[in-house]
Amino acid sequence: MEGVGEAVWIDVIRKMDEVYNDLLQYEVALEEKNAALEESHQFIESVLASMSDILIVCDRHGGIEEVNASLQRFTGRAEAALKGTPVFDLFADEASRQAVRDFFSPQQRDARHDVELGIAAADGTAVPVSINCTPRLSGVGKLVGMVVTGRPVGELRRAYHALRQTHEELKRTQQQLVQSEKMASLGRLVAGVAHELNNPISFVLGNVMALRRYVGRLHTYIEAVSASAGARTPALENLRRELRIDRILEDMEPLLDGMIEGAERTTDIVDGLKRFSAVDRQADEAFNLTEVVQRALRWVTRSAPAKFEVRVDLPPSLPMVGSSGQMQQVIMNLVQNACDAMAEAPSPKLEVRAAHDAGEAIVLTVADNGPGIPEAHLPHLFDPFFTTKPVGQGTGLGLSISYGIVERHGGRLAVANRPEGGAAFTLVLPPAPG
Ligand SMILES: Nc1ncnc2c1ncn2[C@@H]1O[C@H](COP(=O)(O)OP(=O)(O)OP(=O)(O)O)[C@@H](O)[C@H]1O
Ligand SMILES: [Mg+2]
Repeated sequence: MEGVGEAVWIDVIRKMDEVYNDLLQYEVALEEKNAALEESHQFIESVLASMSDILIVCDRHGGIEEVNASLQRFTGRAEAALKGTPVFDLFADEASRQAVRDFFSPQQRDARHDVELGIAAADGTAVPVSINCTPRLSGVGKLVGMVVTGRPVGELRRAYHALRQTHEELKRTQQQLVQSEKMASLGRLVAGVAHELNNPISFVLGNVMALRRYVGRLHTYIEAVSASAGARTPALENLRRELRIDRILEDMEPLLDGMIEGAERTTDIVDGLKRFSAVDRQADEAFNLTEVVQRALRWVTRSAPAKFEVRVDLPPSLPMVGSSGQMQQVIMNLVQNACDAMAEAPSPKLEVRAAHDAGEAIVLTVADNGPGIPEAHLPHLFDPFFTTKPVGQGTGLGLSISYGIVERHGGRLAVANRPEGGAAFTLVLPPAPG
C-alpha cells in the first residue's frame, strides 16, 4: 500500500499479537471458571439426588422450577413432566391444595413448618407428608418463590414407634426389677409372720382337743355323782342351780366346737400366708384360676372396712399354667384398688367376671362403680410409683407389678372407664397348653 510505511505494519502486527494473547488468556480463565461452575453444579445435583426428603423449588406463583429425585420417586413422575406445572396439582385433596395456595398468597412471607398434607403417591394413594414451606428471596430481598420440603409421616411414625418400643422395653425391665424387689421383701416379711403364728396356733388347737376329751369325762363324772343318792343333799342341789351347772354342761360342747373351728380357720390363713410367701420362687405350676380369684376376693373383702355388694361370675374351672401366688397378687391388687376407689360410693358394687373367649384365652374383668379414672391419668396408671393416694397409703406399685406379672404369663392387662361409671380392668391370659 502506498503511503504506509513498513513501521506501521510492524506496529499493527504487534497489536494483533497482543490482542490474540489476551484472547488466549480470557479463554483459559473462562475454561477454569466453567470447570468450577460445573463442579458446584454437580455438587448441588448430588446433594439433591441423595436427599431422602422431597424438595420442590417454585416460582412466586407456585410453578415448579426444580425438583429432586426423591419427589420423582415419590410421585412416579419424571423431572420434565413436573417442571413448569403448578405445585398445587401434586396434592391429593382439595383441602391440601387450598392450604398450599395459602402459602403462596401475595402477603405470605413467613415460613410454615410441619403442616401435614396429603400428596398423591406413585400408586395413586394419598400419603400424608409433613410439609415445610420457606420463602426464597433474591439478592435484594425480593420474594422470588418458595422452597417446599416434605417428609412422609410414615417414616416419622416408624422412628417414633421404634423409640416407643425401646422406651416400653426399658419400662418393663424397670418394672420387673421393682417387682422382684418388692415381692422378695414382702415374701420374707410374710414368711416370718406365718412362722411366728404357726406355733401358738398349733398348741391352741392341740389343747382345745384335749380339753374336749377332759370335759366329756368330767361330764360323765358329775352325772354319776348327782345320780348317787348320798350326794343329793339339798345344799348341793341349790348350789348346782345357782351356778347353773346344767346350762354350762350344755354350752360346753358348742363353745369347744367354736374354738376348734376358729383355730382351724387361723391355720388355713397361716397356710395361705405360707403359700403367698412362696411367690418369689416363681415356679410354674398348673392351677385353677377360679380358685385363685375366689381366694383373693375372700382375703381382700374380709379385711375391707366397708361392706359392699360383690357380684362374681366365674366358671368352675379356668385351668392355666404359671405362678398361682403371683396371679393371686394381681387379683388382690385389682380388687383392693376397686375397694379403695369405691370408698365414697353410695352403693358400692364390685363385679368380677371371667370366661373363655373365642380363641380359648381367659378374659377376666374386675369392674367397680367408683369415680373411674381421669382421662389424664390413664396413660400413667401402670407406671411405677404412680399413685393418687395420700402419702403412706399407696406406693403406686400395685398396678405396675401386676402388669409385669401378667406380661410374664404371656397375657395383657388393660384399663378402661365404663360408660355407666367406674373403672374396669381386663386381664387376658393365654389358656393352659394341651
Ligand atoms: N379401680 C380404680 N378406680 C379408680 N382409680 C384407680 C383404680 N385402680 C387404680 N386406680 C388409680 O391408679 C393408681 C395406681 O394404682 P396402683 O395399684 O398402682 O397403686 P396404689 O393403689 O396407689 O398403691 P399400692 O397399690 O401400692 O397400694 C391409684 O392410686 C388410683 O389413682
Ligand atoms: Mg393398688
